[in-house]
Order: sequence, then structure tokens, then C-alpha cells
Amino acid sequence: MSDDLQVTKIKCLALACSPRKGGNTSLLAERALDVCREAGHETELLQLADFNYAPCQACDGCFATGKCVVPDDAGVIFEKILAADRFIMAAPVFSMGICAQAKMLIDRSQQFWAARYVLNIPVGEKPNQARRGMFVSCSGTTLPGVFDGTVRTARYFFKMLGIVPDAVLCYDGVDKKGEILKHQRAINEVNQQAWALAQL
Ligand SMILES: Cc1cc2nc3c(=O)[nH]c(=O)nc-3n(C[C@H](O)[C@H](O)[C@H](O)COP(=O)(O)O)c2cc1C
Repeated sequence: MSDDLQVTKIKCLALACSPRKGGNTSLLAERALDVCREAGHETELLQLADFNYAPCQACDGCFATGKCVVPDDAGVIFEKILAADRFIMAAPVFSMGICAQAKMLIDRSQQFWAARYVLNIPVGEKPNQARRGMFVSCSGTTLPGVFDGTVRTARYFFKMLGIVPDAVLCYDGVDKKGEILKHQRAINEVNQQAWALAQL
């Protein structure tokens, strides 16, 4: 292959936060990664259900170094997110907020808050390159404001990670496992946004 035909590969990471593997939000995360792979990039899917991590203990241990002192899988997940060029996060609405699996990890990102605002250490920024991502969610009901809490918390997480969310895609009235595959608008929008995300 000649040099001018070579694709510059970037790392695209998806974090599927639902405990229901193969559920609606996981399927959207996989779809987005498929698009990134078709664009020639390196992809990885993490299922939060495969990791063991504790909720934040509010011990303030991270205030000294910007690193959490609890030695569990949260650190492994954060390293992967910070090493990625593109970050796709998928999490459902549980009890009118983001699912607990995601919230537990987001609370652990307190270490980045401590780094940035207590210690003045930059987090996640790459020189000359904005780190970009997208967030996707599903809810079973169509209640007004059903995504408000979830999206607010997800945006906070992206900010802590130093990642710009190019797209926030939410699909309501999607409840049964796999039902999202019949939601053609959702599939089209995820395809489009993932393609845009895959561009350099
Ligand atoms: C514990 C639990 C709580 C839920 N709470 C809500 C809720 O408050 N509002 C809502 O619209 N849907 C709620 N749902 C439905 C999910 O948001 C919906 O089934 C979604 O499609 C699940 O995505 P997943 O397949 O990726 O897990 C809840 C589901 C579970 C299991």
C-alpha cells in the first residue's frame, strides 16, 4: 500500500455500562465501534459488568496525588479511557438516573477532580488534539425529562476526563432486551455520529 493510501489509526474505546450484556445500550456501543472499525481504526469494548470496583469512600486520599488510593479495577478502566483517542459511553436510565454501575465509576473519577482543581494537574489532554467522544442512553418509559439526570451526570464525567462529547443520543420507550435494533432512527444516528467521530 502506498503511503498516501494508509489510514492513520486511532484508538476507539467503548464503555458499556449496563449490567445487561447484549442489551440496548451495549448494542448501540457495539454498533458505534463497528463503524469505527470500518473506518480503519483500532477498537475495544469494555463491559463494566466484567470489572470489580468499589464505590468512592470519600477518603480524600486522591487529594495528595490526584490518584485514587483504592487498588481495584477502576484504575484499569480509567487508564484505558485516558489512552483512547475516541470514547463512546453507553448507559441506560435506571431509577431516573444513570445506572449504578456507571455512577460508581463516575464517583471514582473524583481523583480527576482532585488533580485538576486541587493540584492543578492537567487530566487527559493531548497536545494539539481534542479528545472526543459520544454518549448514548436508553430508557424504558417516555416520561418528560427521563434523561435529564443521566445526561447531566454523563456530561460531568466527560468533563472530568477532559473529553468533548460531540454527540449525546438518547432513545426513550426502549425497554426489552435488543429492542433497540428495531429503532431505525437510533441505528442511523449512531452510525452517522460514530462515522463523524472516526474522522481525524
Ligand atoms: C433497575 C432498573 C431501573 C430502571 N429505571 C427506569 C426508569 O427510572 N425510567 C425508565 O424510563 N426506564 C427505566 N428502566 C428501563 C431501562 O432504562 C430500559 O430497559 C433500557 O432499555 C435498558 O437498557 P439496557 O438494555 O442497555 O440495560 C429501568 C430498568 C432497570 C433494570
